[in-house]
Amino acid sequence: MNTPHDFSNGMNRRHFLKATSIAGGALIGGLGIERSAHAAGSDTLKLALIGCGGRGSGAANQALNAAGVNVKLVAMADAFPDRLESSLENLKTAFPDKVEVPKEHQFTGFDAYKKAIALADVVILSTPPGFRPIHFEEAVKQGKHIFMEKPVATDAPGVRRVLAAAEEAKKKNLKVGVGLQRRHQTGYIETMERLHEGAIGDIVSMRAYWNGNTPWVKQRADLEKQAGRKLTEMEYQMRNWYYFAWICGDHICEQHIHNLDVINWMKRGHPVRARGNGGCETRKGADYGEIFDHHVVEFEYEDGSVCFSQCRHQLGCWNEVAEYAIGSKGRVHMDDGHWKIIGANEWKFGGKQARERYQQEHDDLFAAIRDDKPYNEAEYGATSTMTAILGRMSTYSGTSIEWDDAINSKISLMPKEFSWDADMPVKPMENGLYHLPIPGKTVVV
Ligand SMILES: NC(=O)c1ccc[n+]([C@@H]2O[C@H](COP(=O)([O-])OP(=O)(O)OC[C@H]3O[C@@H](n4cnc5c(N)ncnc54)[C@H](O)[C@@H]3O)[C@@H](O)[C@H]2O)c1
Repeated sequence: MNTPHDFSNGMNRRHFLKATSIAGGALIGGLGIERSAHAAGSDTLKLALIGCGGRGSGAANQALNAAGVNVKLVAMADAFPDRLESSLENLKTAFPDKVEVPKEHQFTGFDAYKKAIALADVVILSTPPGFRPIHFEEAVKQGKHIFMEKPVATDAPGVRRVLAAAEEAKKKNLKVGVGLQRRHQTGYIETMERLHEGAIGDIVSMRAYWNGNTPWVKQRADLEKQAGRKLTEMEYQMRNWYYFAWICGDHICEQHIHNLDVINWMKRGHPVRARGNGGCETRKGADYGEIFDHHVVEFEYEDGSVCFSQCRHQLGCWNEVAEYAIGSKGRVHMDDGHWKIIGANEWKFGGKQARERYQQEHDDLFAAIRDDKPYNEAEYGATSTMTAILGRMSTYSGTSIEWDDAINSKISLMPKEFSWDADMPVKPMENGLYHLPIPGKTVVV
């Protein structure tokens, strides 16, 4: 079966600008200043974009805007032609001099990534996370510098592939950035420096939250109406990827990873076990697939400290995206905009973020490429991905899960083959609904 061609451009220019400024930061406004920065750069770096959706298009913008380097987009790959075309059109409008992607450099389908990677010096990997280990491995094999979005996998075998490829990347002196942008945010960086210097003493208790609403959903009926035909199960799950664990990882991986990564950063390690509760209480219906709408997990660290984590997609509830910790000398509160230490070493972040955080992470990666400085974020990206997977394993199974068992799990969530009519590991029941994990019964390791 061929890649479907019959979807109209899903994203118009207005939506694109909105999406890339939310997920991708300031774009058009900075052009004047950035152009002069590019003029100061040396050789032109060729960029390929793999996964031309909202975040990928945003990341391409940031790469093309990166300070002190000349970057040109030369190749694009997406599973779907309509996604590639709308992204290309918008990028071309925003960067007429920096986007040169002729038809023969536009690739679609499951193997598209290999061909686009081959044409570039630097690649952006921004498909849904299920494909990340495959794409990262290939980019490393081909010897390219990489920016990859978080999470970097959806299951333990995927995490292990990423860790192995990360080692290879180091040996090959490749620079690897991971889209955990809080690591490039001045408020977080300054707070972490203080915490690591002991500003709140020994950290004994942490909390992490991503409690919000349901993100986008692609209804099967709408997709089929738009296409004018029935979708295969593979195409449906790829279009509506958020709600399938093999490709998304569940929202504990897809979103809450940001907060869990902050806690790992603070603790300079990863949890040794997780115990959780979760389920799908309010978000019902076939198009919400097989993921939970809430996860509540206790992550225990080596030193006995515990992070209490919550992530929830339920309407009308208390919402917060933040991290907290209590230490022997004080407390800390962090979120996107506020960083505060309370106690003996009282402090509040009053500085400014020099460049918007999504831009900053690209500036940092491209500076490392330009100056040939060691740069490999894949290891902590994989560790925080595994932390989220560990949490999901505990809520899906309802059991206490050890880190070592989780990371060595042989259970793969991925389809055995990638084609539009592939036999999918997850299928709807006769009533159209999908099986949800059942705590006490679902096996995860
Ligand atoms: N760092 C952040 O704050 C942040 C924000 C948003 C999204 N993200 C991450 O970025 C990634 C993409 O999210 P998005 O919101 O852009 O989703 P999206 O659906 O808008 O884009 C994903 C794109 O990948 C394409 N794709 C899917 N499978 C593919 C394959 N095998 N080969 C090539 N292309 C394929 C899709 O067709 C789509 O165009 C996710 O991992 C997400 O978690 C990160």
